[in-house]
Amino acid sequence: GKSGYDHYMLKEIHEQPTAVRQCLSERVSGLERTIDVDSIADLEPPARVQFVACGTSYHAALYGTRLLRERGVTAQAFLASEYDADSVPVDEETLVVGVTQSGETADTMTALRDATSAGATTLAVTNVVGSSAARMCDHVVYVRAGPEIGVAATKTFVSQQIALALVACELTGTYDDDLVEALRALPDQLQAVLDESATRDVAEEYLESDAYFFIGRGYNAPVALEGALKMKEITYKHAEGFAAGELKHGPLALVTDRTPVFAIVTGGANPRKTVGNVKEVETRGAPVVAVTDGCVDVERYADHVLPVPESHPALTPILANVQLQLVSYWVANRLGRSIDKPRNLAKSVTVE
Ligand code: F6R
Repeated sequence: GKSGYDHYMLKEIHEQPTAVRQCLSERVSGLERTIDVDSIADLEPPARVQFVACGTSYHAALYGTRLLRERGVTAQAFLASEYDADSVPVDEETLVVGVTQSGETADTMTALRDATSAGATTLAVTNVVGSSAARMCDHVVYVRAGPEIGVAATKTFVSQQIALALVACELTGTYDDDLVEALRALPDQLQAVLDESATRDVAEEYLESDAYFFIGRGYNAPVALEGALKMKEITYKHAEGFAAGELKHGPLALVTDRTPVFAIVTGGANPRKTVGNVKEVETRGAPVVAVTDGCVDVERYADHVLPVPESHPALTPILANVQLQLVSYWVANRLGRSIDKPRNLAKSVTVE
């Protein structure tokens, strides 16, 4: 059941601290300073990594790409439906990672099959034990989010991100003390965000808006895309996410006093530059909602601040994402949408 929540989505948003604990469980040993993730422990470090994924899982893949690049691995993320093993260098030295919560997405399965034919080693990062992706790939890492009933992916997204952080460490043989410490603290920090979130008021204030924009850079860029996707899916309102620096290259023309801009501004992601982008929209009269750990002074340009605790630069985006999930949820709730089963959408998309 929904355990007293009005929707599965809200329940699953609140299950994120538990989902993260489950994903970390018995995979990180502080004593031995090891990160040991299932079947990839004996995998040779690959020459290159290619992610294939769709929708929310693609956003997790973009996040994973950055984690690997920071550790010196050549990594790229592809929309699974656009992956073409003939036009990218894929060979025996390539690890192709399918990120798919359901493990059944047709586009992702096709990409994984192409990669296999081209000689790549494949890894499924999935939530569903025994799913098609889990069975067809050479290796599998389960994200252990528990069952997700709401069509809009929430806790599976967070679990994918955590699993990819572990995969990045494992593949590169790096035990990153700061990251491990921050991962351990993350469940309680997620809980704190859930307990204190003021998103209901923010949602109420911007219910009548024409469109919602989301901006962030670095690790926050995929979260900006994800914030917009969630908003579209469950509210049926126009929403778009951009890497913060891209705003001035076109989308700024859409910004008015009827388009709230959600800016994710956290440490480690050139926050000062993002504040510059916030000023650009504020000057044009757009309401600004800053989701921030307080690393720089963005408050003075913001109409609302949704705070997140300080964490590792790779993990603050995960905390920020919770605030964005809740904003979308409350907007959809007030508009009376079919939150757990939005129109035209299905939990797993088995056609190409
Ligand atoms: C959005 C959502 C979809 C899925 C996409 C891929 O909330 O759930 O965008 O992420 O259809 O699904 P999986 O991860 O099952 O491959």
